[in-house]
Amino acid sequence: CGIVGYIGNGKAQTILLNGLKKLEYRGYDSAGIAVYDGSRLQVRKSKGRITDLEDHLLQSPLFGTVGIGHTRWATHGKPSYENSHPHSDTHGKFTVVHNGIIENYLELKEMLESKGITFKSETDTEVISHLIAEFYKGDIVAAVQQAIRLMKGAYALAVVTDYEPDKLIAVRLASPLIIGAGNGENFVGSDIPAILEHTRDIYILEDGELAVLTREGVTIKNMNTDEKISRSAVRIDWNHEQAEKGGFEHFMLKEIYEQPNALQRTLLGRTDRTGRNIVFENLGMSNAHIRDIEKITIIACGTAYHAGLVGKQLLERLTRIPVDVDVASEFRYRHPIITDKTLVIAVSQSGETADTLAALKEGRRLGARTLAITNVVGSTIAREADDVILTMAGPEISVASTKAYATQLLVFYMLAFYFARIRSTVSTPLLETYVAELHKVPELVGQILENHGQVKQYAESLKDKSSLFFIGRGLDYSVAMEGSLKLKEISYIHSEAYAAGELKHGTLSLVEEGTSVIALSTQEDLYEKMLGNVKEVKARGAEVYGIALADNRTFAKSVDNLYLLPNTLPLLTPIIAVIPLQLIAYYVSVQRGNDVDKPRNLAKSVTVE
Ligand code: G6P
Repeated sequence: CGIVGYIGNGKAQTILLNGLKKLEYRGYDSAGIAVYDGSRLQVRKSKGRITDLEDHLLQSPLFGTVGIGHTRWATHGKPSYENSHPHSDTHGKFTVVHNGIIENYLELKEMLESKGITFKSETDTEVISHLIAEFYKGDIVAAVQQAIRLMKGAYALAVVTDYEPDKLIAVRLASPLIIGAGNGENFVGSDIPAILEHTRDIYILEDGELAVLTREGVTIKNMNTDEKISRSAVRIDWNHEQAEKGGFEHFMLKEIYEQPNALQRTLLGRTDRTGRNIVFENLGMSNAHIRDIEKITIIACGTAYHAGLVGKQLLERLTRIPVDVDVASEFRYRHPIITDKTLVIAVSQSGETADTLAALKEGRRLGARTLAITNVVGSTIAREADDVILTMAGPEISVASTKAYATQLLVFYMLAFYFARIRSTVSTPLLETYVAELHKVPELVGQILENHGQVKQYAESLKDKSSLFFIGRGLDYSVAMEGSLKLKEISYIHSEAYAAGELKHGTLSLVEEGTSVIALSTQEDLYEKMLGNVKEVKARGAEVYGIALADNRTFAKSVDNLYLLPNTLPLLTPIIAVIPLQLIAYYVSVQRGNDVDKPRNLAKSVTVE
């Protein structure tokens, strides 16, 4: 979900609507705003997209200079008008927008109902507005503080009341919230793009903090003790264009095309003066620490998890450290073996995924050192981890992740090379060759993007399929998993990624005349084996779309169509092999007429477990 809030002298309605549009990728099943019109709070909300809300506001606009807004992705209660935010108390005196979950809301709801309060929605959020109303004795800050003392869970809140219309209250506990400082005006947002067009000076709220915004200033306090906290603003230099579509039809395509730059930026400043060795200057881990690591556990969700699967193979191969990769939501419940010699690596584009955050905390609780690979400076996961390596992908808006994945892979390469040098597990000349080749990757990605005609054709012939397979071995298998996920996410075509050698142990029974199979073969030591697997599916009537390195032309004889990738070392192929797969998913989705950037049922950043 997304939150935006404004207090100033401008038109709150316009500022809130624009902010919500920038946040639409965080959730989009309903939206609403509340504005103080000079005498009371007025709320407008609607089910559906922000444009639906906009239409509604055209009919009945709101005039005023203070307000809050929300775009929702349902967790408690179905998408509906009633369940959309903002939520108000019985008399409409207090309105609240909320991200996160109030875990004990049923208990609180019963308590409030026993006092005769009637609820209008099924949400946990409505509880908050009634609690504040119950506690209000002339001081909104005190009432909010009393309310949150009873609330268990994770939340980011923005609150306004028509009793004190010159204040906007923001609270953060385990759900992101930032404040934008302006001149005679101040802003709240669940993330930066919401307010970037108004200010670049941002205060990042920490967990357990409450902020009081007025037109003149911002006061940040500890939400329990009321103690004032001094915080300096961070200057954000994302250019606004970066958060817009920039000429592309969809954010996803724009982001696919940004990959050469994103990779370049991620490499930047991460080699020593000779250019031959990877360095991470800001890493707190000493060489002794790095030599001491006995095990690495990678935790992540979705696409970031797939980056972790490649990371495992790289780290194990090059550093000889055993590596586990866990889907973050499973990690805590399998009694993982973690010691103070374990390095837990959390991979997260947003840095806010609740599952990943919880797993990271568990890793730390069990004694591990923690490292975050994330795209968002100041995100919760970045702040929770002992060390952070930023992927410099820039804001990623499309729900289906592309440039974040590519840069996460790149960071794993750099990390593996860096650790391997310190642990002396790979010879210096070989490492230097790897680093030199790695520097060519952005250029190779650029070449693939320049001629995408063939991928478009692949997409054309795959668009009406009801199911397909992605197969590969070794690193190709991990990439196949990401290719399959991309396709599922945005085309809604069922697909399955399979380790090519494992097909014959069961799933081959699904292959029949006309089944489409995308087969990756970029690993020289596995060419022969892969050919065998392709023959197995061909013999059952499959139509095979091959993806191989340019020097593997023999593959052409065994497949029905062959896409050739520019040559590179087999070790480095994942970053380039994923590009045609992203494009296939993209074009299939476009041809099926889907909402590419906002696939049904999914959200960019999932801040509930
Ligand atoms: C959501 C998104 C996925 C993403 C996953 C992890 O489910 O829809 O695209 O891969 O979260 O997100 P993160 O921000 O932690 O990388």
